[in-house]
Amino acid sequence: MAAVQQIGIGVIGCGMISNTYLPNLTQRYGAVKLVGVADLVEEKARKAAEKYNCAFMTNDEIYNCPDIQIVVNLTNVWSHHEVTKAALEHGKHVYCEKMAAETFEEAKELYDLAKEKGLMFAMAPDTFLGGGYQTCRWLIDQGVIGEPFAADAVIIRNYSVTGPTVRKGNVNSEGGTIPFDMGGYYIHALQCMFGPVKRVGGFARWMKKEYTNPKNPKWKEENVLKSPNLIVGTLEHYSGVLSTLTAGDSGVMNNKEIPGIWVYGTGGTLFCPDPNTFGGPVKIFKPGYDDYMEVPLTHGFSGLDKMMRFGPAPANEDFMVTMWADSRRGIGVGDMCWALINKRPARITNEMGLHSIEIINAMVQCTKTNKIYEMTTKPIRPVALRAGFMAADQEAVFDDYWDETVDTTPWWCK
Ligand SMILES: NC(=O)c1ccc[n+]([C@@H]2O[C@H](COP(=O)([O-])OP(=O)(O)OC[C@H]3O[C@@H](n4cnc5c(N)ncnc54)[C@H](O)[C@@H]3O)[C@@H](O)[C@H]2O)c1
Repeated sequence: MAAVQQIGIGVIGCGMISNTYLPNLTQRYGAVKLVGVADLVEEKARKAAEKYNCAFMTNDEIYNCPDIQIVVNLTNVWSHHEVTKAALEHGKHVYCEKMAAETFEEAKELYDLAKEKGLMFAMAPDTFLGGGYQTCRWLIDQGVIGEPFAADAVIIRNYSVTGPTVRKGNVNSEGGTIPFDMGGYYIHALQCMFGPVKRVGGFARWMKKEYTNPKNPKWKEENVLKSPNLIVGTLEHYSGVLSTLTAGDSGVMNNKEIPGIWVYGTGGTLFCPDPNTFGGPVKIFKPGYDDYMEVPLTHGFSGLDKMMRFGPAPANEDFMVTMWADSRRGIGVGDMCWALINKRPARITNEMGLHSIEIINAMVQCTKTNKIYEMTTKPIRPVALRAGFMAADQEAVFDDYWDETVDTTPWWCK
C-alpha cells in the first residue's frame, strides 16, 4: 500500500509498544514512510531497523535527517519532554505517546514551542479515532440516545513494581501513575464525544504502595510515589455534559467486564467500549428494549484488541506483535501524514493532549486548594472521521481537507 505521497517518519524508542507501532506504521498506513529508528539501547534500535527494513539511527541523526518530517516519540514518559523538545527545536512535527510530559507545566512548554514554530504536536492516545469511539460519536451526533447529559468513566487496575530490581518504571515516575498513564484514554474519548472541559472538581490520593517481589532488595518497603495513584473527579464540559472519571491502581477489575464508559442521554443509554482499544462492543439501551443491543460499527479501523478480553498475558515482544497487531495504534500518525499532504490540521490537535494532562493536574490542584479548577486550555471538539469506509481500513477517510473554521459544536448546543 503506497499513497500518492509519503511522509518520512523517524521513531525514537524501540521498546514494548514499538512492537505494535512498527508493524502498523509499515503495513497499515500508506502515507507513512518509516525512515529510521533510534533507542538509547543501541541493540534495540539495530534489531528494529533490521526487522522493519529502515535505517538504524541515533536520536541526533533523526533530528537532523532532512527526509524525516515527523518524529514519533515512543520513549518512556520521563524522556518525552527531552525528546519532543529536541525534535521541535529541529523543526520536526511530533507524535508523542502519552502523557505528553511528566507535568502539565512541561507539557505546556512543549505546546508553546510547537505553536511558536508552527509545528504539529499530537499526543496519544489515538484510540478515539478507531471504529469503536467513532461509532459512539456518530450515534451521539445522530441523536440516537437523545441529548447526552452525563457519563461515567472508570479504570481500576493493580499497578505495582513486580520486577526483581529497583529500576525506574512508570509506577514510580512522575506522570506515570494510573491517572496519567491510563486517564488520557478516557479523557480523549470524552473530548471526542462531548468536546472540551470548562471546569474540574476532584480529589487525588496517594495510596500506599509496597515493592511486591520477594527478590527485589526493597521487598515490602514502601514505594514512594511522585504522583497520585487515585483520582476521582467530575468534569463539566462546555457542552453541558457532566462526566466523572475514576482512575485507581490499587484494586482488581474483572477483565471480562470491559472497563468502558457509560453515556446517559434523554432517550437512551450508550455503553462505549474500553477506550484503550480500537473496536467495540458498542451497545445501546432505549425505552422498550429488553436488554442492551450491540450496534454494528459504522467506521473502520476497529482492530480486535483481544488483550483486554483474554486477560493478562506475558508482556513480551511476541505477545505484543501477535495480540496487538490487530489494533490500529498509529492511526494518529497516519492522520498526521495526511494532514501534511493535504495541508490541513491533524485530528489530534496540539491542545488535546495538553487538555488531558491539565484535567488530571486539575484534580491534584482541587485537592490542594479546596477549589473548583477553571481550565485554561480549550481544544476544539475533534473532527469526526467519515462513516462507512469499512473495508480494509480505507485511508480515504484521511484524504480530506478541514480547518479550524469547521463547526464541531454538538447539535444539542446549537
Ligand atoms: N507497553 C504498553 O502496553 C503501552 C501501551 C500504550 C502506550 N504505551 C506508552 O508507550 C511509551 C513507551 O512505553 P513502552 O512500554 O514501550 O516502554 P519501554 O520501556 O518498553 O520502551 C521505551 C524505550 O524507549 C527508550 N528510551 C528511553 N528514553 C530514551 C531517549 N531519551 N532516547 C532514546 N530512547 C529512549 C528505552 O531505552 C526503551 O527501549 C510510554 O509513553 C507508554 O506510556 C505503552
